Amino acid sequence: MTICLTLSPVAPDAATIARAATCLRDGGLVAFPTETVYGLGAHACDAVAVRRIFEAKGRPASDPLIVHVADVAQLGAVASHCPPEVARLAERFWPGPLTLVLPKGPSIPDDVTAGGPTVAVRIPAHLVAQALLRAAGVPVAAPSANLFSRPSPTCAGHVLHDLDGRIDMVLDGGDASVGVESTVLDLTTTPPCVLRPGAVTLEMLREVLPAVVPRLATASDAPLPSPGLLDRHYSPRAPLSLYQGLAPTRRAAMLRDAVRLSTGGMRLAILAPAAELAAFDAAGATRVVPLGPEQGLAVMAAALYAALRAADSPEIDAILAAGLEETGGLADAIRDRLRRAAAGRVLTCDS
Ligand code: TXA
Ligand code: MG
Repeated sequence: MTICLTLSPVAPDAATIARAATCLRDGGLVAFPTETVYGLGAHACDAVAVRRIFEAKGRPASDPLIVHVADVAQLGAVASHCPPEVARLAERFWPGPLTLVLPKGPSIPDDVTAGGPTVAVRIPAHLVAQALLRAAGVPVAAPSANLFSRPSPTCAGHVLHDLDGRIDMVLDGGDASVGVESTVLDLTTTPPCVLRPGAVTLEMLREVLPAVVPRLATASDAPLPSPGLLDRHYSPRAPLSLYQGLAPTRRAAMLRDAVRLSTGGMRLAILAPAAELAAFDAAGATRVVPLGPEQGLAVMAAALYAALRAADSPEIDAILAAGLEETGGLADAIRDRLRRAAAGRVLTCDS
């Protein structure tokens, strides 16, 4: 049975936090809110507990986990060595949505790092996560608290949908504010490389470390620098096709396909800016879900995974999604997640 405990995201109840921390220290699995997405935590130095994470999520053991700590003082328990850039990055971006890949310390079991010599570390800003990490007093390994290859959870309801009965506890601290997972920056390579774009953007990182490069688009046969960067990640059950291009052309292509597919009997869900949804309703779509940049990219990022989950259900045969025109900044993170949700089905709609 999974216990769900609700607590204030700004003033979490100390007794509830203490209960969750005890559960973690005793080898239990506790899902908790962070500012990015909900994490599924286990004591990072307890290999048995860590293996339970992989079991609960159905995640392959080859995909390493991020270790969460409360503050920079705890880094020594996780990494064997911190290059000088860490202090500068920490001062600017921690606590917050940035994960650093560092050389692994001896107390972190191989199960956490998939046998690799490096470890990913993050100090989350969410006050529930902070309180839990402090009360636990141990590093906490935590991937996103979803079933493997499903969209990450941005609220406790998403966690329970995927993992009810498979984990010990969920701390419900409301909606995650950022909505996409942390930026992953590898500091063990020269130059340092962004393995996963997030809310700490390339532009922001370069203000501190000008040499940072984005991950190169890998040829399909090249070894993946991070196993979790597999293209088929975050994908909904119904196949999702992503339409890229300037709005008028992209909209026309989506409408044309929506009419053709729904006439052929397919039950479609549409993800598109709110102003376009009436046209897709008229085109025969079964479900329309607003998802667009009109209220700003931060609002779009926060809504992204809930929108993917809302579009996806057994009654839906296919999802058609409008891509972003914008590039750079947070747009890179949103484009990255949409592209992965599409698992290769990306249509470039040029006039
Ligand atoms: O925002 C986040 O990062 C959330 C919250 C819970 O902190 N966590 C999260 O974890 O997204 P997960 O496991 O879903 O994604 C971790 C990513 C994966 O792409 C994984 O391959 C990569 O980080 N990663 C972990 N350890 C790594 C390492 N040593 N080297 C390179 N990539 C690593
Ligand atoms: Mg994940």
